[in-house]
Amino acid sequence: MTTPPRSSEDDAVKGTLLSAYTNPLIKEARDRQDEILIERFAGRPWAIADLGCGNGYHGSIFAPAGGTYHGYEVAPQIAELAKARWQEAGLTNARLILGDLAVAEPQENSYDLVWCLYFTPGNLRDRSEDLTVYSDAYLDRNPYFIGVISRFFKALKPGGRMFLTVYKDVPDAEAAQVDFYLNTGQHPVTPPGSRFVATAEQFWSVRWTEASMLSNLGACGAADGQVIFHDLNRIAWLVEIEK
Ligand SMILES: C[S@@+](CC[C@H](N)C(=O)[O-])C[C@H]1O[C@@H](n2cnc3c(N)ncnc32)[C@H](O)[C@@H]1O
Repeated sequence: MTTPPRSSEDDAVKGTLLSAYTNPLIKEARDRQDEILIERFAGRPWAIADLGCGNGYHGSIFAPAGGTYHGYEVAPQIAELAKARWQEAGLTNARLILGDLAVAEPQENSYDLVWCLYFTPGNLRDRSEDLTVYSDAYLDRNPYFIGVISRFFKALKPGGRMFLTVYKDVPDAEAAQVDFYLNTGQHPVTPPGSRFVATAEQFWSVRWTEASMLSNLGACGAADGQVIFHDLNRIAWLVEIEK
């Protein structure tokens, strides 16, 4: 199995994050995700882990309350944007942890909240140019996702909560993904109807069924009864897991 270079995917992600264009359904889902989290958690000093924190946008909303804010980010150039944003805002409690989530070693029982937002959970996979790796069996028990999420589930304090923003496996979500990637300089290579969209630029983003999410989370130690699917709109869920 060939592992493609990380830099092409990082450039593609940076393109989507910095682009002036966002697909309307994706924007709607993201705005709703933020409304829910702000309403429930802004203004109190929670200890928060932000998995794939991107340019630090959520840190600048939640870190001002004064709790520990750890942003985990793999792409060095994107991480620099987050660091600069937090420094400029004087957020000394916000720390950027640069590196792949696969090798992150969060302390057990240390966070009140762990979140992985804006469809980032759907990017977590063993990176391969061979797209046949991502069979239904793989997607229903994705070892990379399970490795990362189970470690961060252990890192939640008892009573803590995890939030994952994900695409539903519906045709409108696939159409929104393809539209977004095409309009941000990428070239989808997956046949229509696949459960994920991969691009020639090495970006990869999976959609989920409730069953595939529960199957993966079950392997992370979360029972079905601990999981709530909040509808963001017709293409997305904010999945909440209570520890
Ligand atoms: C879709 S962006 C979302 C950024 C941010 N959470 C937001 O809501 O704006 C996904 C981010 O996760 C990062 N990422 C993807 N895979 C990662 C990994 N394995 N380890 C750490 N960061 C990762 C990407 O570089 C990117 O910045």
